[in-house]
Amino acid sequence: MNKILIAPSILAADYLNFGRDIKKVEQAGADLLHVDVMDGCFVPNITFGMGLVKSIRKITAMPLDVHLMIVKPERYIERFAEAGADYITIHYEASGNLRKDLETIRKKKAKPGISINPDTPVKKIKEALELVDLVLVMSVFPGFGGQEFIKNSLGRIQELRKMLESRGAKAKIEVDGGINEKTAPLVIAAGAEILVAGAAVFNSGNYKKVIKNLRDKEGGK
Ligand code: DX5
Ligand code: ZN
Repeated sequence: MNKILIAPSILAADYLNFGRDIKKVEQAGADLLHVDVMDGCFVPNITFGMGLVKSIRKITAMPLDVHLMIVKPERYIERFAEAGADYITIHYEASGNLRKDLETIRKKKAKPGISINPDTPVKKIKEALELVDLVLVMSVFPGFGGQEFIKNSLGRIQELRKMLESRGAKAKIEVDGGINEKTAPLVIAAGAEILVAGAAVFNSGNYKKVIKNLRDKEGGK
C-alpha cells in the first residue's frame, strides 16, 4: 500500500497566525496543506482567495491542495494556479463543463482533482476518472469544519476504489470531513490515501502525534 498522506486544513487554523500554524504542521510531518476556498454561494460560508494562496506559497514547501467550493470554478482556476496551487479540486456539482475545467487545470501545470458531495452518486464521475490526479470524497456536507463524519462515506470510498481499479485509473482517493483518530483507520481500510484533517489537527495540543496517529493506524489493527 502507498504511504497515507495527511493534509491539514487551514480552515481550522488560527487566522491571525497562519504563518506560525502552517510552519508548525509542516515541521510536524504534514504532507500537503489543504486550503478550503468557499464563496458563500456553493456553500453557506466564505473563506479565502488567491491572495492567501500566494502568500502561503512563499512560506512553505508543502504542496498546496486547493479545494474550490465555488460556483463556476472556470472563473478562477487560472488565478489559483498562478498563485501557486499544486492541486486544484473542483466540485462535480459546481462545474458546467467538467472536462474543460479539468483540462484547464492541467494546462496551467497544476494537478486536477474532482470532488463529490455526500449526496452525489459516485458513478456520476466515472467518465472523469481518467482526467484527474485525485478524487475528493466529501464525508460531510461542505461549508464548515468540525462536523461529524457521515458513515456511508465508507461504502462510497470502496465503490470508487473498485471503479478506479476496473478502469485502470491512477487517481488517488482523498477524503474530507470529520477525519480523526477514530475515523482515519476506517477510511484507510476503505481505500483512501489522502486524509484531510482540520479540527483533529489544529484543535489538538500535539500536531506531530495526531498526524502520526492519523497516518499510521491502519484499519483493523
Ligand atoms: C469542509 C471542508 C473541510 C474541513 C474539514 O467543507 O472542505 O476541508 O476543513 O474539517 P474537519 O476536519 O474539521 O471536519
Ligand atoms: Zn476541504
